[in-house]
Amino acid sequence: MSTNIESRPRVWVSQPLFDDIITRLEPYFEVDAAREVADHAPSRIAEALREADGALVTLNDPIGAAEVAQAPRLRAIANVGVGYNNLDIAALQARGIVVTNTPDVLTETTADFGFALMMAAARRITEAERWLRDGQWQGWAFKSLLGADIHGATLGILGMGRIGQGIAKRAAGFGMRVLYHNRHRLPEAVERECRASYVDYEKLFAQSDHVVLVLPYSAQSHHLVDAATLARMKPTATLTNIARGGLIDEAALADALAGGRLAAAGLDVFEGEPRVDPRLLALSNVVLTPHIASGSLATRRAMVALAVDNLIAALGFGPEAGKPRNPVPAAKPL
Ligand code: DGY
Repeated sequence: MSTNIESRPRVWVSQPLFDDIITRLEPYFEVDAAREVADHAPSRIAEALREADGALVTLNDPIGAAEVAQAPRLRAIANVGVGYNNLDIAALQARGIVVTNTPDVLTETTADFGFALMMAAARRITEAERWLRDGQWQGWAFKSLLGADIHGATLGILGMGRIGQGIAKRAAGFGMRVLYHNRHRLPEAVERECRASYVDYEKLFAQSDHVVLVLPYSAQSHHLVDAATLARMKPTATLTNIARGGLIDEAALADALAGGRLAAAGLDVFEGEPRVDPRLLALSNVVLTPHIASGSLATRRAMVALAVDNLIAALGFGPEAGKPRNPVPAAKPL
């Protein structure tokens, strides 16, 4: 069903995405789509939402009670991303706004990247490339840029949702022993399929050669990986983060990397994105990437397509009217 032009609801698309996919909103809605990538100020977000019935937003767009206070018509926000810590879910749901996200479509791409980042950190790939490009390679040297093995090593996965399980399955191909820690232990059949053993948080960090973080970020998981956790890790270990920067106390991580108490890290996410702690920028034993774990072309397109479907459905149109595929569950009280 398409709607009469005068009565069409309005939607705001906060960032430039893929025009050929965003066009699918047009039979239903009047679309106000951003043309430039922007870190919108809260006042700009509030202004854009004022007349909107729905919004398609990304992790660049923090939205809470203040941003929706003057948006009486707003009924749905479709986040283009599986993580939604940019949104104050409790405040939005209290206002009756349906929030959706984009799980599943990015699982395998993100797991690929997590594995690649861990390998890059362990085998010092970006450090070696910089060294070569800087003209420092004067001849093959037996002991130069020695790294840590992946095959046969112990992998620790913190957060064993879909992406964590994807990483565990990849690890089997490398003959790794896989440990995991999660809020809830997985059913035995899933543990078998992932060839992963449940351990407590302390053991995960103490026993793993490579730790990968794939858990959601929230007030409860803020700086979960702090100086005490890092002190538990083997000095030869690596730490990879493809979840959210706020999970790690970056100052403590920089201390551990600089002091040789941790061999290397791979970071795709940062607490104050796009700002990166200057101490991390200065260290050679950390691989830094700009939040691109889900960034294959096919997956980013699939994320936008799913968010578009979710928004159409959440606003009561299309074949799934009223039943968006990925509503974010009700916020739990703190
Ligand atoms: C997500 O989906 O949460 C990623 O961090 C952005 O793709």
